[in-house]
Amino acid sequence: MTSEVVQIVGVSKKFKGVVALNDVSISVKKNTIFGLLGSNGAGKTTLLHILSGLLSYSQGDVYIFDEKTKKHSKSLKRRIAIVPQKISLYEELTIKENIHFFGKAYGIKRKELKDKIQMWADILQLGDLKRKVKFLSGGYQRRVSIAVALIGDPEIIILDEALVGIDLETKRIITNLLIELKETKTIILTTHSIHDAEILCDDICFLHRGVKIMDGSTKDIIYRYASRQGNKVNLTFDDFKIAEKIMILIQDSVKEVTREGNVLHVRIFSDRYGLSYILDIIRNAKERYKDIEIKKPGLEEVIFRFMQSDYTNI
Ligand SMILES: Nc1ncnc2c1ncn2[C@@H]1O[C@H](COP(=O)(O)OP(=O)(O)OP(=O)(O)O)[C@@H](O)[C@H]1O
Ligand SMILES: [Mg+2]
Repeated sequence: MTSEVVQIVGVSKKFKGVVALNDVSISVKKNTIFGLLGSNGAGKTTLLHILSGLLSYSQGDVYIFDEKTKKHSKSLKRRIAIVPQKISLYEELTIKENIHFFGKAYGIKRKELKDKIQMWADILQLGDLKRKVKFLSGGYQRRVSIAVALIGDPEIIILDEALVGIDLETKRIITNLLIELKETKTIILTTHSIHDAEILCDDICFLHRGVKIMDGSTKDIIYRYASRQGNKVNLTFDDFKIAEKIMILIQDSVKEVTREGNVLHVRIFSDRYGLSYILDIIRNAKERYKDIEIKKPGLEEVIFRFMQSDYTNI
């Protein structure tokens, strides 16, 4: 048994002339959070639906728990749960009735189900379980969707834009829950928030118009970028004239330097023209900086640059 829980190999999916996925391969390791990123229509939901067995695919292979699957068996479906992008609960039923309905469908015994509903109600802070779903706010509907997905104790949890349209409190509850769940389960999620992906995801895959254009460990992607693009350093001087003087002195040795008033924004590498080289130039010019701030790049900057380069290079 490999540590890969999911392997998608060269999968393509067409919807009447629209290529939603084109030869996409990904692998997801056990006990990790895997993030699918990409703009609207990139193919994220399509990929999640293939993974959860809701959609068929035209080409390629899907392996889940080391088993090749073209059409998910009932037992495989039980091991995977999806929190869909569009909330799909029974609006006329209460919170409790919704969770109960799905729990019963999983064949959970009455007493165990009662305890489980209470457990998830406490963890997700669902409040009064007698409230009808149609009267709940978006945040509470999302919490109930997650409870419904988790009631059958799945091993893989798929969340499609689960952190969208919810308030900070709900976001905190869900984020903490996902980090805890990772200890025992595998999580695959989509998000438009690169910030959320950076905080939550061990690995990411970036899709663009159905094609995978970047994937890997979140840390490695940022590290690779930083070693190619350098780190940003902000140097503040007493006045703009000193900043201008230093800018002229260093501009041939750094990758990029811009001035904003008395602040220089410099992009440097950690090679021989690194920070100590720049500080030597300042010292030799008999000037001093007032403040220095070293900013390591985040995933947001990596993706932004990547998009600017037409998804070819960073
Ligand atoms: N049932 C369908 N019939 C026809 N085309 C579809 C269908 N589902 C998806 N598509 C098309 O497939 C492409 C990928 O859609 P998908 O919903 O997977 O994107 P997404 O990355 O989830 O986008 P979003 O960020 O908006 O949720 C889009 O061009 C979409 O219009
Ligand atoms: Mg989608």
